[in-house]
Amino acid sequence: MKAVLLGTTAGGGFPQWNCACSLCVRARSGSLSSRSQDCLAVSGNGTDWWLVNASPDVRTQIAACPLLNPGPGARETPLRGALFTDAELDHTLGLLTLRGGAGLTVWAPGTVLHALKDQFDLRTVIDGYAPVAWRQVDDQPFDLGGLRVTAIPISGKRPKYARSSTVDGHWVVAYRFHDPATGGVLVYAPCLASWPDGFDEVVTEADCLLLDGTFYAASEMGSATGSASGQAAMGHLPITASLPELRRFPSVRRIYTHLNNTNPVLDPSSPESEKLREAGVEIPLDGTVIEL
Ligand code: MLT
Ligand code: MN
Ligand code: ZN
Repeated sequence: MKAVLLGTTAGGGFPQWNCACSLCVRARSGSLSSRSQDCLAVSGNGTDWWLVNASPDVRTQIAACPLLNPGPGARETPLRGALFTDAELDHTLGLLTLRGGAGLTVWAPGTVLHALKDQFDLRTVIDGYAPVAWRQVDDQPFDLGGLRVTAIPISGKRPKYARSSTVDGHWVVAYRFHDPATGGVLVYAPCLASWPDGFDEVVTEADCLLLDGTFYAASEMGSATGSASGQAAMGHLPITASLPELRRFPSVRRIYTHLNNTNPVLDPSSPESEKLREAGVEIPLDGTVIEL
């Protein structure tokens, strides 16, 4: 299995268009590496690829990744579709860019498929260009070009635009990818509200865990921007709370992604970055390829 970290930040990216925090200022000046919004590309056979989440940055992410180059036919692409961890706009709006793509399949929890029809009708818009096969994920593993994929229930956190749903089930999932040919297991969990029940087993069985690193500390948005609005409601367990959990799994390759623009680990020379290095936890840049 191959996976590419196409985008490693939370909604807004780094730098964020309307943010003048010291980190965004340094990214704008080029002294820190810019990063695009959350996206992972994954493939079991090297020819068929799926995105996990699709942000408005997807056009430049695909263009920057040679593994996703179109061809050899004039309109052939290795991209087969996308899996959504949730219904957040920074994880779904990239579909508008992929409109008109032939034969795409989108997998998502039932709550998310419902929200994208009933509450923000992205699905009708997209289907007007080229019909997408919408597939609901549940607790049954499914096959994706030779990979076995399992959706892992994470939390009930709804996007701000979404009303409570008539559809039962979790709003947020993680995905576990198992390559039966190599035995490799990758877990992608960019939205973790708390350490869920049963997650220890998921991590123990993984070779590589990509985890929600949105915030380093619980009060970070307030200290960086002078306005704490909404950090607690965003449903992201801060690194100060998840790192002690990660320390219990030293043999797993552990990576933080979905970093918010206020997160001090965006600066490799910060004491917080040093703490992650000392714990053996990585914060790779956009474009990093993982092979399992
Ligand atoms: C999230 O996944 O929680 C988002 O990054 C929130 C946002 O888009 O502001
Ligand atoms: Mn996000
Ligand atoms: Zn900022």
